[in-house]
Amino acid sequence: MSVSEIFESMEYGPAPESAADALAWIVDQGGRFGHFIDGAFTAPGAGFDSTNPATGEVLASLTQATQGDVDSAVKAARKAQSKWEKLGGHGRARHIYALARLLQKHARLFAVLEVLDNGKPIRETRDIDVPLAQRHFYYHAGMAQLIESELPDAQALGVCGQIIPWNFPLLMLAWKIAPALAMGNTVVLKPAEYTSLTALLFADICRQAGLPKGVVNIVTGDGTVGEMIVTHEDIDKIAFTGSTAVGRRIREATAGSGKALTLELGGKSPYIVFDDADLDSAVEGLVDAIWFNQGQVCCAGSRLLVHEPVADRFYAKLRTRMEKLRIGDPLDKSIDVGALVDPVQHKRVSEMVEANTAGERFVTPGEMPENGCFYPPTLITGLNPADTLMQEEIFGPVLVSTTFRTPSEAVQLANNTRYGLAATVWTENVNLALDIAPQLETGIVWVNGTNMMDAAAGFGGRRESGFGREGGWEGLAGYTKSKTAQKPLKEIEAFSGEGGPEDGIDRTAKLYIGGKQARPDGGYSAPVWGKSGGLLGHVSLANRKDVRNAVEAAHAAKGWSKTTGHLRAQILYYIAENLSARGDEFAARLDAMQGTKAGRKEVDAAIDRLFTYAAWADKYDGQVHGVPIRGVALAMKEPVGVIGALCPAEAPLLGLISCMAPAIAMGNRVILSASEPFPLAATDFVQVLETSDVPAGVVNILTGPQADLADPMARHMDIDAVWSFGAAELSAVVEKGAASNIKRTWVNHGMARDWFGAEGAGRAFLQAATEVKNIWVPYGE
Ligand code: NAI
Repeated sequence: MSVSEIFESMEYGPAPESAADALAWIVDQGGRFGHFIDGAFTAPGAGFDSTNPATGEVLASLTQATQGDVDSAVKAARKAQSKWEKLGGHGRARHIYALARLLQKHARLFAVLEVLDNGKPIRETRDIDVPLAQRHFYYHAGMAQLIESELPDAQALGVCGQIIPWNFPLLMLAWKIAPALAMGNTVVLKPAEYTSLTALLFADICRQAGLPKGVVNIVTGDGTVGEMIVTHEDIDKIAFTGSTAVGRRIREATAGSGKALTLELGGKSPYIVFDDADLDSAVEGLVDAIWFNQGQVCCAGSRLLVHEPVADRFYAKLRTRMEKLRIGDPLDKSIDVGALVDPVQHKRVSEMVEANTAGERFVTPGEMPENGCFYPPTLITGLNPADTLMQEEIFGPVLVSTTFRTPSEAVQLANNTRYGLAATVWTENVNLALDIAPQLETGIVWVNGTNMMDAAAGFGGRRESGFGREGGWEGLAGYTKSKTAQKPLKEIEAFSGEGGPEDGIDRTAKLYIGGKQARPDGGYSAPVWGKSGGLLGHVSLANRKDVRNAVEAAHAAKGWSKTTGHLRAQILYYIAENLSARGDEFAARLDAMQGTKAGRKEVDAAIDRLFTYAAWADKYDGQVHGVPIRGVALAMKEPVGVIGALCPAEAPLLGLISCMAPAIAMGNRVILSASEPFPLAATDFVQVLETSDVPAGVVNILTGPQADLADPMARHMDIDAVWSFGAAELSAVVEKGAASNIKRTWVNHGMARDWFGAEGAGRAFLQAATEVKNIWVPYGE
C-alpha cells in the first residue's frame, strides 16, 4: 500500500473525552438541583429530568420554580442591587474578572458538561462556547472599569429578568449576565429546561468567586417560569433569546409595563456564493454555517444562494464534503456533528423536512448512532424562494438552496424573509462584497467567513429577528438608563371656544403626505381654539388609511436613505433658514395656540435643534472593532427605515422638530403625528418643508387624535419603528401593536421630557434613529 493509498483509506480512530469529572460534579451536588437564590442553592423540589440527548440517559433532576421561588429570586436581586451598583465600576470589574478567571480555570469541566447536557460536539464547546463565554466576562470586566468615565450619565436599570435558550446554554448566559453586571444591575436568569446544568455550574462559580449574594440568581423550569419572570412587577428589564413566537408573546405581555426589553430571535440567514468565490473555502464555510451546533443556531447560514454559473460545481463539491462529515458521540473529539438537543426538536425538524416535496434532497450517507437524537446533515437544492423551507426557520442541520443570476437578484432573494439577523457573502471581489453588504437588511454580515462572533462587536438583528444588540457599547446600552430624573407627564387639554374665524375666512389645514397637501381620507376636520376662545383654524382628522398612504409615500422615498450625510445636513440647514425667515409668524402662532408668550423662545430652540442635527448628519460615525481575528468588524450606522412618531403635545413645534430632525438626519423617512391640542404649528411647518428641498415622502405629517393613529402605526408591517412622546396610555398601545412585526419602539411610559434641555436632543435620539450593522471582513492568507 502506498502512502497516498493509506491517506485515502485511513479511518479516524475514536478520541473520546472523559465524562468522569462532569458526572462526578453532578453526583457531588446530589444529582438533584434546586435554584440558586441569594447566594445559595435551595433544596431540590418537584421538577423534571435533564437528559443527555446523545444517549437518552438521565443526568440530573431539576426543580420547576414556583411563583414563590421567582418572588424570592427577584427579592434577593432587588435587595442586592443598589449595593452592587454602589460598589462602583472598579469594584464590579474585580468581581467580573474573578468570574472570567474561574470560567477559564474550569473550562474543561464546563465544556464536557455542556456536551452531556446539550449534545453538541466537544470540539465546539471546547473551542467556541466556553472560550467565548470567558471572553465575554473579560470584556465586560473592562466595560465596568470604564463606565464611570465613558458613560457619566448612565446608571443601571435595576433588576433584569433574563431568559435564554438551549442552543448555547453557557454562552447565552454570559451574553446576558456579563453586561448586566458590568452596568450595576442584578439578575434573575432562567436557563432553558433542556439545558440548565452549565448555568447551575456557573452558580457554583459565583459562590466560589465570592460574588455578593443576590447579584446573580438562577431559577430553573419551563416556559411558565419564563412567564412568571416576564410578568413580575419588580423587574425592570427583560432580555430574551429564543423563538420569534415566544418573543412576540413577551412583547405583548410587557407592553405598557415600563420594562425595558431586548429580543434576540430567530433567523433564516442567507449564505451567498458568487461565481468568483474561492469555492472550496465557501464549502468549508458552509460546514460552519449550517452544521455548526447541528444547525441549531439563530444566525445559521441556512439559506444557500448560489450564483448560477457555478451552481453545479459548487453543489458537487458540497456533496463531496458532506459525505465526509462524521456524525456520532459528541464527546468524541473527531466528530463534526453531534445530537439535536431533545426528541422534541428532532421531531420538529423531521416533520418539517418530510412535509416538503419540492427540490432534491441529499443526505450525508453512513451510519448514525442508533440511540439518541441524531439527524443527518441534509441539503435540499432547487427550491423556490416561496417554499416553506426557504422561509421558515428549521433550526436543524438542514440546508436549503436556490440559485441567482445577478448581484441584485441575490440581494432581493437574501432580503426576501421576515427575519434580518445575519448574512454571509462569499466573493474574492472586495468591491462587490462591500457593495452588497449595506444592501442586506441584517444586523450582521460576514464576508468570506461565517458565524464569527465577539464580545466587542454587537450581535443582533432587525425585523422579526428582534431588536437590541448584545456585545460592544451597543449591548451595554441595553442595560442602562439616564441619570436624569424624569417627572410624570402633565396632561394637556385643547382649548375650547365658539364662533367663527375673526377674519371670516375658513382655513382647514390639510395633511402632508408624499410632498403634497392631502385631504384626509375620512373627510373630517376639527376646530382649533386659542386660549381666549377664538377660532384659530381647522385641522384634518387623519385615520388608518391616511397612515397607510403616508407609509406608501415614505417607502417611495427610500432613495433618501442612500443620500450622503452632507446632503442631508444641507437640507436641515435650509429648513432652519426658512423657519428662521418666518420666525415671528411661528412665534405668534405658538403664542396664540398655547396662550403663552414663549413662542419666540420655542422657535429659536427649534432652529437651534435643526442646526444640531444638521451638524450630526455627517458626524454620527460607525466604528472599526478590534475583534480577535485577522481582519476587522466594521460597525456601520444605518437608518432604521420608516419611523412613525407620535410627537409630544407640549412644545408643539420644538417637539415635532426634535423627532423629525434626528430621524431624517440619519436617513430615515418619517410619519409624524402632530401635537394633538396644538396642531397648527405642524401644519404651518409644511410650508417651510415645501420650500426647503425636502424630497416628497421623506417627511409626512398627520393631524388628529393620536389615539386613532398609534395602533395602526404600531401594527403596520412596513413601519420599522415607532416612537411615542404622546399621552401616557399610548405607550402600551404602541408596544402591544409593535409585536406584530417585532418593530423597535421608543416610548415615554408617561414620563415627561424637557424638550428645551439636554434630554430633548442628542445621542439617545441618534441611537433610536439608527441600526448598527457589523460587517466582518477577514483578510490575509
Ligand atoms: P422557546 O423560545 O420556547 O424557548 C426559549 C426560552 O424561552 C426557554 O428558556 C423557554 O423556557 C422560555 N419560554 C418558553 N415560553 C415562554 C414564555 N411564554 N414566556 C417566557 N419564556 C418562555 O424555544 P423552543 O420551543 O425551545 O424552540 C422552538 C423553536 O424556536 C426552535 O425550533 C427554533 O426555531 C427557535 N429557537 C430559536 C432560538 C434562537 O436562538 N433564536 C433559540 C431556541 C429556539
